[in-house]
Amino acid sequence: MGGIRFSMIGEDLWSVSVSVLKKYQGVGLGKKSIRDGMRELCKKIGGRVSVEAKVLESNHVSLHTFKSVGFTVHLAQGGIAVMRRMNDG
Ligand SMILES: CC(C)(COP(=O)(O)OP(=O)(O)OC[C@H]1O[C@@H](n2cnc3c(N)ncnc32)[C@H](O)[C@@H]1OP(=O)(O)O)[C@@H](O)C(=O)NCCC(=O)NCCS
Repeated sequence: MGGIRFSMIGEDLWSVSVSVLKKYQGVGLGKKSIRDGMRELCKKIGGRVSVEAKVLESNHVSLHTFKSVGFTVHLAQGGIAVMRRMNDG
């Protein structure tokens, strides 16, 4: 149906990338996998975590999806928005 991947990119900072197959898009799976994935990540590392997503500014659905689950734009450069959700856990 798709996939989600977290990679450690700094002390207490992880990156996330997510994709949902076209035929399953728009029914809540993107939001659910980000929320569930972040919960699992916090459990696994046993502490607070900040997560970053890099999204094309032209990708309105993706921007909206991350905003919907609590991410805000940290910086925007060269058509890419770096979005973060800080200190969950
Ligand atoms: C971005 C992506 C993961 C979203 O997954 P999804 O399962 O389709 O999204 P959801 O069903 O959880 O919807 C999330 C929000 O976007 C909205 N949305 C979803 N598809 C939409 C569409 N085609 N047009 C407008 N809004 C849309 C939903 O209504 C929802 O809004 P809400 O929070 O206000 O209710 C998916 O579109 C995707 O895989 N895109 C290609 C890969 C990508 O861009 N990844 C992100 C970069 S890491």
